[in-house]
Amino acid sequence: MFTLLLPLLSIPAAWAASDDYHWAYSGENGETSWPTKYGFCGGVHQSPLDFHHSILQYDSTLYPIRLQGYNVSTTDYFTLSNNGHTVSMSLLPTMSIEIPPFTYIASSLHFHWGNLAHPKGSEHCIGGKRFAAEVHVVHYNSKYADVATAMNAADGLAVLGILLEVGSFHSSYDGILTRLVNVKYKGQNALIPGFNLQTLLPTRLDEFYRYEGSLTTPPCNPSVLWTVFRNPVFISLEQVSIRIFFGTVCLTLVLS
Ligand SMILES: *[C@@H]1O[C@H](CO)[C@@H](O)[C@H](O)[C@H]1NC(C)=O
Ligand SMILES: [Zn+2]
Repeated sequence: MFTLLLPLLSIPAAWAASDDYHWAYSGENGETSWPTKYGFCGGVHQSPLDFHHSILQYDSTLYPIRLQGYNVSTTDYFTLSNNGHTVSMSLLPTMSIEIPPFTYIASSLHFHWGNLAHPKGSEHCIGGKRFAAEVHVVHYNSKYADVATAMNAADGLAVLGILLEVGSFHSSYDGILTRLVNVKYKGQNALIPGFNLQTLLPTRLDEFYRYEGSLTTPPCNPSVLWTVFRNPVFISLEQVSIRIFFGTVCLTLVLS
């Protein structure tokens, strides 16, 4: 388990985005414009980053991630939805992770993927290597009422980052990826029956990079305790291709 050495910084108390600004991944409202509207974006706490040996420090005090309620019955359903920025899958409040001293309740998961021009879409890199895609499983601190409240607190969120690499077919990811076609457009939803979500994670839950950072997209609040697993999970080239097609359609959309 590794933790990152980051300088301590003072963080501005609050930032508000103007109502007529709609962030996007490219174009006039693309990533380079985010800091002009969302003060937290582009800051030193800003994710993503490269896990490089010169900023890593081994930390024997970190516990392996403990999952609770991740094996979800097939009689429960997750909702996959397209919010115009990305597709996210709502999780159940009975799912949580333990990162002492807090318990964090599962909220949702989403994907970051590449496009035809830049097929590698992971938000974190290891030793300069970018991965095909990355999954973020978002949890909020159980001491807050909901994810929206937690997002404004410095200890509000804990996100698990799973790096995806091209390899063999992955049946659990297939259950999500094959339904992307049903949520291609903003506002569309699809249901996914429960399964054991631990199968989306790498086997080794004790090997990860840990740091305190921010959301990687606006409003970029510096409220995330990141845990990025060191070992990638493999999905097939066909499965990556579903993602790439969808990525080019969806991630360049501007909210209206
Ligand atoms: C998950 O739960 C199902 C029953 O709902 C059970 O059959 C299965 O063995 C469980 N899997 C694990 C890994 O605990
Ligand atoms: Zn994300």
